[in-house]
Amino acid sequence: MALVSAKEMLQKAKAGHYAVGAFNINNLEWTKAILLTAEEQRSPVMLAVSEGAGKYMAGYKTVVGMVNGMLEELKITVPVALHLDHGSYAGAKACIEAGFSSIMFDGSSLPFEENVEKTKELVAICEEKGMSIEAEVGSIGGEEDGVIGMGECADPQECKKIADLGITMLAAGIGNIHGKYPANWKGLQFDVLDAIQQLTGDMPLVLHGGTGLPDDMVKKAINLGVSKINVNTECQLVFAEATRKYIEEGKDQQGKGYDPRKLLAPGFEAIKAKVKEKMEVFGSIGKAD
Ligand code: 13P
Repeated sequence: MALVSAKEMLQKAKAGHYAVGAFNINNLEWTKAILLTAEEQRSPVMLAVSEGAGKYMAGYKTVVGMVNGMLEELKITVPVALHLDHGSYAGAKACIEAGFSSIMFDGSSLPFEENVEKTKELVAICEEKGMSIEAEVGSIGGEEDGVIGMGECADPQECKKIADLGITMLAAGIGNIHGKYPANWKGLQFDVLDAIQQLTGDMPLVLHGGTGLPDDMVKKAINLGVSKINVNTECQLVFAEATRKYIEEGKDQQGKGYDPRKLLAPGFEAIKAKVKEKMEVFGSIGKAD
């Protein structure tokens, strides 16, 4: 199946009270692991690409070529959206041009009126191209690929204004943080999420910072309208751990254990297991059909 916009999968998720995972990709192994897991679990999925990861993978066109190639060669039949994560205005335009099926325009650090204007302009382009678009209000705490947020909670009235521009999904800061949660973290602000969902109605809401969130918080967030959950760091951690174990056990020095296809295999399997675990918690397994 060719790439799809995330609109239909997220509207179904919102109506069905589950969430679709948006997993960040960094290279071929990541992409293949996530696509194969989605196919095995019959789950819709979003492949998220930060601007830094896009650059690392030799540009957005390379990413589009790799993902489209895999969809065909691996015979992927579940719905897959290729999504720009925390895009700048220029990054969003470049991904639209390159053949992504979905973008996030993160105007959360701009003055609110400018966020509205730029989001509105990109909504019109995405509508014309049949692409989905995510906007952000408030900010996600911590740092991801150079995008730094102070973690301000979103103002529900501002969320409504942005939601009314015709976006597909809305990311709102509710105390969530990119990366590991610190020991003194106060938890998700469910009262803010509730207020946002009451004002934005059917709009699928996005929860960034999926790493390390306790399952009960994830489930409560889904009940309050979250339909897309972003996971990045957790896949990086299990990949690094599995690779370290392989090397520490000296396996790269046994036979042809140095072959990158062998060296990266434990990390690849670890990502597959982590993605499956997340899909189980999010409730998206079997929802592709
Ligand atoms: P984590 O790295 O905390 O999982 O967050 C991912 C994310 O929100 C990507 O935008």
